[in-house]
Amino acid sequence: MIPINLPKIGEEEVEAVVKVLRSGILTSGLGTGPMVTQFEKNFAKFAGVKHAIAMNTGTAALHSAIVAAGVKHGDEVILPSFTFVATAEAVVMAGGKPVFADIDPETFNVSPAEVEKALTKKTKAIVPVDLYGLPAEIKPIRKIADKHGLALVEDAAQAHGATCEGKPAGVFADAACWSFYASKNMTTGEGGIVTTGDDEIAETIRLIRTHGEKAKYASLMLGTNYRMSEVQAAIGLAQLEKLPSFVAKRRENARRLTKILAKAERLKLPEEPKGYQHSWYLYTVRLKDASETERNKLVEELRRKDIGAEVYYVNPVHLMPYYRESFGGRKLPETEKAAKQVFSLPIHPSVTEEQIDYIGMTLLNLL
Ligand SMILES: Cc1ncc(COP(=O)(O)O)c(C=O)c1O
Repeated sequence: MIPINLPKIGEEEVEAVVKVLRSGILTSGLGTGPMVTQFEKNFAKFAGVKHAIAMNTGTAALHSAIVAAGVKHGDEVILPSFTFVATAEAVVMAGGKPVFADIDPETFNVSPAEVEKALTKKTKAIVPVDLYGLPAEIKPIRKIADKHGLALVEDAAQAHGATCEGKPAGVFADAACWSFYASKNMTTGEGGIVTTGDDEIAETIRLIRTHGEKAKYASLMLGTNYRMSEVQAAIGLAQLEKLPSFVAKRRENARRLTKILAKAERLKLPEEPKGYQHSWYLYTVRLKDASETERNKLVEELRRKDIGAEVYYVNPVHLMPYYRESFGGRKLPETEKAAKQVFSLPIHPSVTEEQIDYIGMTLLNLL
């Protein structure tokens, strides 16, 4: 099976981990060990902002950024439902009420017009997601946020290496949250980071990360343990060095696959709108006019031929039992349609040209 994603770990990561283990410094009580501090410095430079605060998951990054952006109990937060559940989970964990907005059917990202429709007096923040690695329409969303005095937290968990107007994903938001889960464009096994240009947000996130403490045993606010370990940061430093080559290979694979699939009239292929560069975390196509059953059958057939096609996301968050029961079910027609018609194909850096040709030709033959 060609898996949908696969971490690419080399000797550099192995050596870096061994070095940390030999050093005896595995973590730091305030989350600021030498590896974590260096990783934060390098990641902030990569992300084009002043601060990066390393965390133990992308979910922790989202939760603390949403709290630090000022979301409190009862505040409404607008976000897409077509995302990984962690985006919504973080809003609820912060005490906020998720208000789901529909997507643009072309990009699968949240539609600025739908965000505007979801605004109420209780809205406090907007959390767009860079789905599959294509940056959200952040400029129009930034305008809405500024007009209504709202916080803007970007879920960039899938966007390492993506750009918008030549700048790294995340720079136009008040804070951006990244994941280093094993499937991502770069990994630390589990891990996450928040990037921000805002000193106050950065300071609050640092407090949340380690029990609300600036000094030991003197909590200034409610916090928890969201610290990244030194081992994770050492892996992250090596992976960040390699990220440009990983993304370049994903891009090359995407281009090759698009060339083969361009003939397939039933497929809507992923594109990069003008001014945007994809991170190519997932190569996601839509089987046009398909029923869910027809899409599922095609995915099954691909899997039978050892192509690890997957559906992201079969269940939009607003239709998941907990979210439907707790927060009501607004109809989101484009989200619900996309969830029935999309599927993703492997293009990660370990997929060879021959495998891309096999994936493309097999899919063409199945259509
Ligand atoms: C869009 C999105 N948001 C949030 C997360 C949560 O990140 P993590 O798994 O590192 O907690 C992920 C990845 O898993 C994701 O894809």
